[in-house]
Parts: sequence; C-alpha cells; structure tokens
Amino acid sequence: MTKKLLNIVVFSGAGMSAESGIPTFRDSNGLWENYSIHEVATPQAWKHDPDLVTKFYNQRRKNILESIPNEAHLEISRFESINPITVITQNIDDLHERSGSTRVLHLHGNIMQSKSSGPDTEKAYYDINSWELKSTDKCPDGYRLRPHVVWFGEEVYELSNAAKIIKEADILIVIGTSLQVYPASGLIHETNPDCKRYIIDPKCEEMIVPSDFVKVNSSASAGIKTVLENIKKVLTKG
Ligand code: OAD
Repeated sequence: MTKKLLNIVVFSGAGMSAESGIPTFRDSNGLWENYSIHEVATPQAWKHDPDLVTKFYNQRRKNILESIPNEAHLEISRFESINPITVITQNIDDLHERSGSTRVLHLHGNIMQSKSSGPDTEKAYYDINSWELKSTDKCPDGYRLRPHVVWFGEEVYELSNAAKIIKEADILIVIGTSLQVYPASGLIHETNPDCKRYIIDPKCEEMIVPSDFVKVNSSASAGIKTVLENIKKVLTKG
C-alpha cells in the first residue's frame, strides 16, 4: 500500500542560519543594528555609493562561504527521504541547498549570484564563484553587476510563486523570522483553512500570529526536530 504524502512547506528567515554563525537582522547586535538599511540595502544606496554596497555584500558572502549548514537545515533536507519539503526562504544564503534540500525558492534573492544594474535585465542572473564581486565586473551589456538581492523598495518577483506554494500546503512551518518585513510576512496568511501551522522561534511567545499556530519556543535546530518527529508519527501511522 502506498502512503499518502503531505504537502509540507518550510518558510524560513535569518534565525534558520543563526546556528551556522550568520547574524540575523533585528536581534540585538543584528546586522541592522550595525549598518543603516538606507546606506546598503536600497536602490538609492546603490546609486549613491555602489562601492559601499558591494563591499557590504562581499562581507556577507565571505561570512556565508565560511559557514556550513546547521542541524536545522540538515533535519529538513534529510526529511525528504520520508516526505518532500518545499522551502521558501527569505535568506540570501545557500545553506538550504548546501544541506541537500532540493526544492528551495529564494524570496529575497541569492547572494551567490549577481545581476545587471542596467534597465530591463531583471531576470538574468550570473553565478559569483568567489566571495568578491568586483567594481569592474560587468554584464554583457556593459552595466556594472550588483548582488542579486531584493532591496527595500524593490519588487519581490517570487512572491506569487511562493503564495501559490503556500496555498497548497497541508503543513506550514515558519521558522526563524520576525515577520516584520512585508510582503514576505503576509505569506503566512495565504494557507488554506485546513493547513496545520507551526512557528518555531525563541521569541515566538511575543509574536502576533493567528491563534491556530502551534508556537514552538525554541532554536531552529531543536524546534524543527520536534516538529518533524511529530509529523513523521502522523505519516507512518497511516
Ligand atoms: P530578523 O532578524 O528580522 O528575525 C530573525 C528571527 O530569528 C527573530 O524572530 C529571532 O527571534 C529568530 N532567531 C534568532 N536566533 C534563532 C535561532 N537560533 N533559531 C531560530 N530562530 C532564531 O530576520 P528575518 O525575519 O529573516 O531582507 O528578516 C526578514 C528580512 O529582513 C530579511 O530577508 C532581510 C532583512 O532586511 C532583505 O535583505 C531584503
């Protein structure tokens, strides 16, 4: 007898990679405490000082390349042998992919890629094969390459794809995100009424989410282990 598979979706944020040594944005000593969003993460910042923006993301890329997937990433990828999991991540790191997850959608871009800073070239991405994007790196049309990161004020191109995936979820696991950045945060409301929803975060008790969410007040690695063990029991029961 073949068992029915569930449609499981993980929606991750910076807390997912915290145990890999990648800083979050809004915790104490987070990135936005030490850098100004306006100076490094907006189209205006790029226009004003592309070298500063490039340097900021080069440092992020270096940190990410020196990091490895943690137990939370690995629990998720290992679970694919039992049941597929689709990951929708706000993270620009590639740790979900490096842990072995095969279905990963990046909402806010991918630090290991660049794109043209010229007009009408939004969909062409180029792999960056080292930590450093240089000021002399140009696209075939001669425009300077910028990091493939969605900045504040820019369109989130993958939003409708992500909403479609979340609408079909039987189980949604939100993990390591403060849910403070719109429109990404609105995705948790796109589920169908029967979807079972979890939120894993050491600060989840303070977070305002619909009352059916099961709050798991825990780090990413401990929390995902508990949640996936429960799901496994349901799957193996029948
Ligand atoms: P935040 O820094 O806003 O939130 C990180 C969340 O992770 C918080 O709720 C923490 O409590 C939680 N956290 C910290 N350590 C954790 C751990 N070990 N395990 C689990 N959770 C932990 O990061 P995001 O919500 O991801 O956008 O931020 C959303 C977006 O804002 C980012 O994608 C980025 C940023 O500006 C862009 O760069 C476009």
